[in-house]
Amino acid sequence: MNIRINFIVLSILFLGVIGENGDDDVTVETVEEPTSNVPYESPTVLDPRKVYFAEHFDDVPQFEKRWMKSQAKKEGIDEDIAKYDGVWEVEQPHKDAFQGDSGLVLKSKAKHAAIAAALNKPFVFSDKPLIVQYEVLLQDGQECGGAYLKLISEAPETKNLQNFHDKTPYTIMFGPDKCGNDHKLHFIFKHKNPRNGTVEEKHCQKPKERLEEIFSDKLPHLYTLVLRPDNTFEILVDKKIINSGSLLEDFVPPVNPPAEIDDPNDKKPADWDEREKIPDPDATKPDDWDEDAPAQIVDESAAMPEGWLENEPTHVPDPNAVKPEDWDTDMDGEWEPPLIENPACVSATGCGPWEPPLVNNPAFKGKWRAPMIDNPNYKGKWRPRRIPNPEFFEDKQPFRMTTVSAVGFELWSMSQDILFDNIIITEDIAIADKWAEDTFSKKRQKIAKDSESVIQRLAALTNDYPVLWGVYILVLAVPVVFLLYLCCKPASSSASHKQEKEELSQAAEKKKTDQLTEDVEEEQEGEEEEKENNEGGEEEAANDDEEQEKNSPPDSEEDNEAIEEESASKPSVEGARKRKVRKD
Ligand SMILES: *[C@@H]1O[C@H](CO)[C@@H](O)[C@H](O)[C@H]1NC(C)=O
Repeated sequence: MNIRINFIVLSILFLGVIGENGDDDVTVETVEEPTSNVPYESPTVLDPRKVYFAEHFDDVPQFEKRWMKSQAKKEGIDEDIAKYDGVWEVEQPHKDAFQGDSGLVLKSKAKHAAIAAALNKPFVFSDKPLIVQYEVLLQDGQECGGAYLKLISEAPETKNLQNFHDKTPYTIMFGPDKCGNDHKLHFIFKHKNPRNGTVEEKHCQKPKERLEEIFSDKLPHLYTLVLRPDNTFEILVDKKIINSGSLLEDFVPPVNPPAEIDDPNDKKPADWDEREKIPDPDATKPDDWDEDAPAQIVDESAAMPEGWLENEPTHVPDPNAVKPEDWDTDMDGEWEPPLIENPACVSATGCGPWEPPLVNNPAFKGKWRAPMIDNPNYKGKWRPRRIPNPEFFEDKQPFRMTTVSAVGFELWSMSQDILFDNIIITEDIAIADKWAEDTFSKKRQKIAKDSESVIQRLAALTNDYPVLWGVYILVLAVPVVFLLYLCCKPASSSASHKQEKEELSQAAEKKKTDQLTEDVEEEQEGEEEEKENNEGGEEEAANDDEEQEKNSPPDSEEDNEAIEEESASKPSVEGARKRKVRKD
């Protein structure tokens, strides 16, 4: 114990000396205010000529001029639930909001809600790519419901957006959708059959990536769809590509029907023999083939083992059993003593009638079957004849979709407070990127900063000033030493106690003055204050910062807590003790 204490004391003194060098500037920085004020300004588009729609929802009068809440009724369902009466509001997010940054929030749950706005100018699918990008923040998570947007087709029935409902023609539907364990990121486009004008939905194949997190983490996510005139597309979540491909190849059902199909009128001929093998018709059962021979027969060579008592039963009535007093022969029947194992059989190889065992019958053949041979009439598997598909067409330009004139949300969700923000529809990916940089990226930076605890910031600071480790160890070790000192004092002999004191004072001598010890004390108080203020973040910091873990002193967390408690609850005692030590 003495050795340990001495070691700790010396370590503290040693670290104290190291700590001294870095102290001054470090203390100043640790008390600095949190720097989470990333400035926010409503975004502006780089080049309005290439932008069809841009909406940041920060300007309420503009929003009200531009957006139409649907007054429609859903067809084919009961009157009382058919109305689009979901509540839309422009407001700030509940958490981590920038001053002046609001979004469009679907406030109500379990209601049909639709809202739409006309584009600045229609997007015509010709030689320019289409980029659609927007943010979704599921403030209340997502149980079951969509958060996708629709690019509404230019058509007579889409002129009045107050009529926007589920059957309103759209060109593209894009965005997240979830119900239960079914997580989706839709990209659906409407394709017009060039032969007969029928419009059909084409669904993008599922991304390989798992999508659970975007529905559960309650962080804003950025959804981007890039669609190019060469029919290729990309889907990005938070700027990361999660799905890509071609309109011609990666959609269900495919845009273009097959050139050939099975002839529906072709039927399998009655005499078409599909059997590859048949039983040999010429084979006959051999005369010596006995189908009736049993599979097993009695082993004739077996003999009764020696010592088998054929006349002794295996079980006999228990001679010691007595009829219970309350046995009622009328009710319970004639009393019989229970059976026990025959004692005469204990040393015998067996008792009772002996029977020889059964063995496999070498003459057993079973049912005779003719051997299989190749079928001389085998014609192979029948397949209907292929004929040219009468409905065939080839659209090499599915990108040339119906012109888009408006954008809208037509949703139903079991979760409320879905926030949409920063919608942009452009032909230039650079414009969408810049728009995201000024909005989504800043938002995520702010959230990251806000969630960074003081401890984490300390950890970061410690990377810059490794000397801080000395300070931390000191902070943790000083109370340990005094606790140990206190614990061991009564137990140790007065001689060793005296020796301890001597060593301590020697150590103090080496340090020349008391001044450093005071420094250390002040520092310790400062650090502890900070710790107390930020206890919540402590665990996080420990997890996040591997280096901190590697370098942290070996004391367990509970130890540290106990020590902190101790020193907090008895500050005066501690102080007295310290003074006493120093005096010695
Ligand atoms: C148009 O063609 C498609 C498939 O080729 C078919 O499914 C659809 O029924 C046709 N529509 C009309 C109105 O004929």
